[in-house]
Amino acid sequence: MPDTFTPCSVLVTGGAGFIGSNFIHHFLEGNPAARVVNLDLLTYAGNLENLKGVEADPRYSFIKGDVCDTDLVADTLRRERIDAVVHFAAESHVDRSIAGPEVFVRTNVLGTQVLLEESRKHWRAKGGDDFRFLQVSTDEVYGSLGPDGFFTESTPLAANSPYSASKAGADLLVRAYHETYGFPTLTTRCSNNYGPYQFPEKLIPLMIHNILSERPLPVYGDGLNVRDWLHVKDHSRAVETVLKRGVPGGVYNIGGNNERRNIDIVNLVCDLLDRKRGRAPGENRKLITFVADRPGHDRRYAIDASKMRSELGWEPSYTFAKGIEETVDWYLANQEWVRKVTSGAYRDYYEKMYGDRP
Ligand code: NAD
Ligand code: DAU
Repeated sequence: MPDTFTPCSVLVTGGAGFIGSNFIHHFLEGNPAARVVNLDLLTYAGNLENLKGVEADPRYSFIKGDVCDTDLVADTLRRERIDAVVHFAAESHVDRSIAGPEVFVRTNVLGTQVLLEESRKHWRAKGGDDFRFLQVSTDEVYGSLGPDGFFTESTPLAANSPYSASKAGADLLVRAYHETYGFPTLTTRCSNNYGPYQFPEKLIPLMIHNILSERPLPVYGDGLNVRDWLHVKDHSRAVETVLKRGVPGGVYNIGGNNERRNIDIVNLVCDLLDRKRGRAPGENRKLITFVADRPGHDRRYAIDASKMRSELGWEPSYTFAKGIEETVDWYLANQEWVRKVTSGAYRDYYEKMYGDRP
């Protein structure tokens, strides 16, 4: 399937986070003629350690800054001759949004508005040349499923957490900029990612981290909530595919058709680490602790990604068995990274959530 757009100078926002950094590694490797400018505020979730290996690449540059900073965004777009924006920057953790929603509205809604408006002006000033604005969104904007069915691109938005409401608000602004101004936007909505560089507040790396430090493994509610897991490298490839081949104005669901109950994920991680560390089978499972449920906890997510397959030719390449094993190995080999990112602000948050320090 041929590409319809070849970006030369890409502004990646949030490129020091989990998915953004994986995307930058992937994109620079596969696009030797392209440049990437990474705009990231380096919040607790952003870490330049994630970009070791590309820092010396002359096609890569980093700007520490806020997507809500109108002047900085306008100046960067102009100075760097940006022809594509891939917008990952966000507050991304549901539990944090329940504890404090305001920063989610600021970064996720206002930040997207600033980027859209400054990108639109920049695009217009360039004479409406080829340009793309890709909004990296989430399946959580669709709300929660019962035992059957899948989210499609036409499922109505029904966000349930402050995080997902802020992402849905941003998605509607993106839609409005296409409908109102003809601005060439794209929106991707992906399911739960896992893989290297994920901050250990999210389910899989938190469980690995707690097992390695012999801490309780907090499972919310009955542990039977279902998520649809995709390896971050498959997500990165999907975002690149949408950027190059997506139809402006389009929405694309991305997922691995890989539904798992939370308790099954936790058991699997426990068993893998028992095996890898020479422990007796069942040893790590003793750390599992059922705790109070997350308020408004969505029961089930499941993505219908058939549009990605049929229209853009994208398919996931990782099996979950391979991806989870590689991920556990990555965390075992990168304990120093974990030590660094779990310092500072994260310690305070962890203490508030779990009553002790990591
Ligand atoms: P993350 O929390 O790991 O990283 C977010 C990054 O954004 C960090 O580097 C942070 O420093 C940066 N950032 C935060 N506020 C900023 C601001 N005001 N200005 C500039 N930079 C700022 O997030 P992630 O898990 O990598 O998610 C990236 C994107 O993908 C988000 O938009 C998220 O909604 C979406 N998404 C995530 C998943 C998932 O499973 N993690 C799934 C689907 C979609
Ligand atoms: O679906 C995509 C979304 O996936 C992204 O938009 C979000 O940015 C990302 O954080 C993720 O949201 P979730 O809330 O699904 O991910 P999290 O890892 O926080 O939780 C996964 C499931 O595990 C969820 O049902 C809650 C449960 N959970 C989570 C934690 C952190 C636990 O049972 N215990 C825990 O300690």
